[in-house]
Amino acid sequence: MSKNFYITTPIYYPSGKPHMGHAYSSIIADIFARFKRIEGFNVYFLTGTDEHGQKIQKEAEKNKKKPKIFCDEISETFRSLTKILNLTNNDFIRTTEPRHFKSVNEIWKRLIKSGDIYLDKYSGWYSVSDEAYYDEDEIENKNGKKVSKASGSLVEWVEEESYFFKLSAWQDKLLEHYEKNKDFILPNARKNEVKSFVEKGLKDLSISRTSFSWGIPVPDNEKHIIYVWLDALTNYLSALNFPDINSDKYKSFWPADVHIIGKDILRFHAIYWPAFLLAANLPLPKRVFGHGWILSDEKKMSKSLGNILDPIEIIKNYGIDQLRYYLIKEVSLGNDGSISMENLKNCINNDLANNYGNLCQRVFSFIKKNCNNKIPNGNSLNENDLKLIRNVKNSIPSLIDLINKQNLNEYIKKVVNFSFEANKYFNDSEPWVFKKKDPDRMNAILFTIVEQIKNISILLNPIIPISTKKVLNSINISDKDILIDNIQKDNSLNLEKELKDLDILFKKVEDDN
Ligand code: ME8
Ligand code: MG
Repeated sequence: MSKNFYITTPIYYPSGKPHMGHAYSSIIADIFARFKRIEGFNVYFLTGTDEHGQKIQKEAEKNKKKPKIFCDEISETFRSLTKILNLTNNDFIRTTEPRHFKSVNEIWKRLIKSGDIYLDKYSGWYSVSDEAYYDEDEIENKNGKKVSKASGSLVEWVEEESYFFKLSAWQDKLLEHYEKNKDFILPNARKNEVKSFVEKGLKDLSISRTSFSWGIPVPDNEKHIIYVWLDALTNYLSALNFPDINSDKYKSFWPADVHIIGKDILRFHAIYWPAFLLAANLPLPKRVFGHGWILSDEKKMSKSLGNILDPIEIIKNYGIDQLRYYLIKEVSLGNDGSISMENLKNCINNDLANNYGNLCQRVFSFIKKNCNNKIPNGNSLNENDLKLIRNVKNSIPSLIDLINKQNLNEYIKKVVNFSFEANKYFNDSEPWVFKKKDPDRMNAILFTIVEQIKNISILLNPIIPISTKKVLNSINISDKDILIDNIQKDNSLNLEKELKDLDILFKKVEDDN
């Protein structure tokens, strides 16, 4: 089994500042990347910006800037967001980089060679905002304007010479691929949408434009600019040194294990992308996971709707671990979900401060007071103690399974439940009662609870990395030992060293309004 794992986020349009929706995809991908790392995988995690096309050109013109300068500035805000979100991406790709030009040129040449490209004329609807072509039945009239039914964005009529990709020729192969690879598109509801769209019949796809210039020119016909989605999707290969398919990076990481995307761009990733790859005779990614939308006032949060939440503001007020935890715990990954400041506060107070945070703090200060600040030995654990510990250890395979299916909600529910159980155990066992009359019993309880804290912290580490590191470091577990294996291993606690002081992990949020 290969111990390499490649995960990607969408590459975002640097047409405006990043918002909570972008942060959401990136945080989700980061959690999987971190989990696979502590599971022992060699992970490559990619994010970046999608900088070509008419949408960006127009936005740059509006701002009276050259497109490249415009992209440099906004791409930088996406790059700095990766730091603010505490992402562990290995790479940040920009489609204006030379490595990406090379790779897109190679894809184009492969599609020419396979006979999948021909020159014709496109006439139909186009949305610059979505950079997408729409059929007549996919648009509607709204306030006297033609808009896409799916996204609500304005469409315009386009008629121009264009290269086409023979998408129609790949219809059966795609359906066969979905059939044979049941988990290629997840969640299942997404897969069904894609399947029924493909079953209705695929038309050939226009893959070049001539009415603007900001993009990668078609090799040998420079008045054509390669369609921005063919350009953008190829980024997943460019980051692995494609076209050098003998490079270590390419050989180790392609095909990708999972592309994390929002459901708005499912068609591009689950239909066009695999079709391009089939035609280019390259392996397909193992999975496309389409998460739901973060809503604001019941609508998709988006720049064009002007209803965006700024992640940076929220992080400033509440903290990054807090935001990461909330987004995963309270928004159902596959479905749309509203986020509210009220829920965020409750979640911080109830789950983080009162439950996990309080447990760590209480236990450590008890040990400091009563055990010379060292974790006591676990020589006399009783059946009850062992049961609690085993319960977590034995659940590891099923937790890994949940992560491998991107079922983060179920994962976190289980882990939080361990934390509630640990709290209850500590209260019910009353170690303070045994200090004088039965120190062995007190020691057993404390050993058990610290073992639980360690295991829960490792499991929560991908989600709330900063706070769990503090907890683990304070029981002398160093960063390199934050590993799933150290849950299953016995005797991984250090009983020799004193605990290090732990600051308040999560400040409770007061109701200020
Ligand atoms: O589509 N809720 O870029 P984009 C949840 N450049 N996720 C959201 C969201 C919301 N309200 N709004 C945005 C593009 N997202 C292309 C992608 S990939 C080869 C090219 C997230 O800047 C979600 O992942 O419009 C969505 O798919 C992505 O941002 C779209 O970002
Ligand atoms: Mg968009």
